[in-house]
Amino acid sequence: MHGMWILGIESSCDETGLALYHDSRGLVAHAVHSQIDLHQAYGGVVPELASRDHVRRIVPLYRQVLARAGMAQTDIDAVAYTAGPGLAGALLVGAAFAESLAFALGRPAIPIHHLEGHLLSPLLSAAPPVYPFVALLVSGGHTQLMRVAGVGDYVLLGETLDDAAGEAFDKTAKLLGLPYPGGPALAALAQQGVAGRLRLPRPMLNSGDLDFSFSGLKTAVLNAMNKGVTGGARADLAAEFQEAAVDVLVAKSLAALRQTRLNQLVVAGGVGANRRLRERLDVEMAQRQGRVFYPELELCTDNGAMIAFAGAQRLLAGRAVATGEHAIAVRPRWALDTL
Ligand code: KG4
Ligand code: ZN
Repeated sequence: MHGMWILGIESSCDETGLALYHDSRGLVAHAVHSQIDLHQAYGGVVPELASRDHVRRIVPLYRQVLARAGMAQTDIDAVAYTAGPGLAGALLVGAAFAESLAFALGRPAIPIHHLEGHLLSPLLSAAPPVYPFVALLVSGGHTQLMRVAGVGDYVLLGETLDDAAGEAFDKTAKLLGLPYPGGPALAALAQQGVAGRLRLPRPMLNSGDLDFSFSGLKTAVLNAMNKGVTGGARADLAAEFQEAAVDVLVAKSLAALRQTRLNQLVVAGGVGANRRLRERLDVEMAQRQGRVFYPELELCTDNGAMIAFAGAQRLLAGRAVATGEHAIAVRPRWALDTL
């Protein structure tokens, strides 16, 4: 099937994202509504509020991407949506909309794994990587290293044993009194501080495997806070935390490349937006004559474009698992390497 339009829908957490992707024209329209303002007062995502806001936003965003692309809804050839992992209620909004629309249009609906969306998103850029490559997936819920040989061909090399990298950024930010979402706020504070003035551990740096652990790092920040950290020392602590997390992420990524004998690294997920992580990876990869790929900045965090793209890749590879009966089912927990 060629010359096809894929609608992508993302609603797994606190962003409603819709996009239209065409297999030869590329990404034609995409729109995201972030719920940051909605959850800020609570210091984190409130699942019920998230679901309700997806309900409010999904149809207007759908109309918006159609209008931007200058398309009628009957032009849509398939509807891809995030079926998991994520918040059950939030996922259900996207799934119900996608399956109903697909049913009404007589088109296939394609459930997509959220992390597959992130994983493939660097392929949307102008100079994409080629298979096989190593992917570092760093989001609010996951921290994994994968060997990626093609669409749906993912081997898990290592992952976090406790908190995800983004979760560690978020929890540490909270300890430092920063607002939700913590990752970007912590990164901004870190810029005003100096890493190394206060020392934090690099958990599992020399564990000899490709696994991670971030909960101890967060506890070390808590202990430092309890000793009394004021003024500029808060920024130093933020900088040291970021440096410690980045040290481990960089070291394990390089180890994964050595182990697989590959020289392309793809970084995906929200933490992939972190500037310090990018700086360090750029330097290390250049020294090794390797190449590192990131999604466009606006496609690092959750969006519908990556879901539309993953749907298109699955269709083109003959690996789209269309639900057929338009059943509305989601998988709040779902391991990527079982695809
Ligand atoms: O991929 P994503 O948008 O949602 C999930 O699928 O989880 O990732 C969100 C995570 C949050 O934990 C957020 O704090 C983190 O990515 N994040 C960052 C930065 N921007 C977002 N962490 C560190 N530095 C950043 N600049
Ligand atoms: Zn995500």
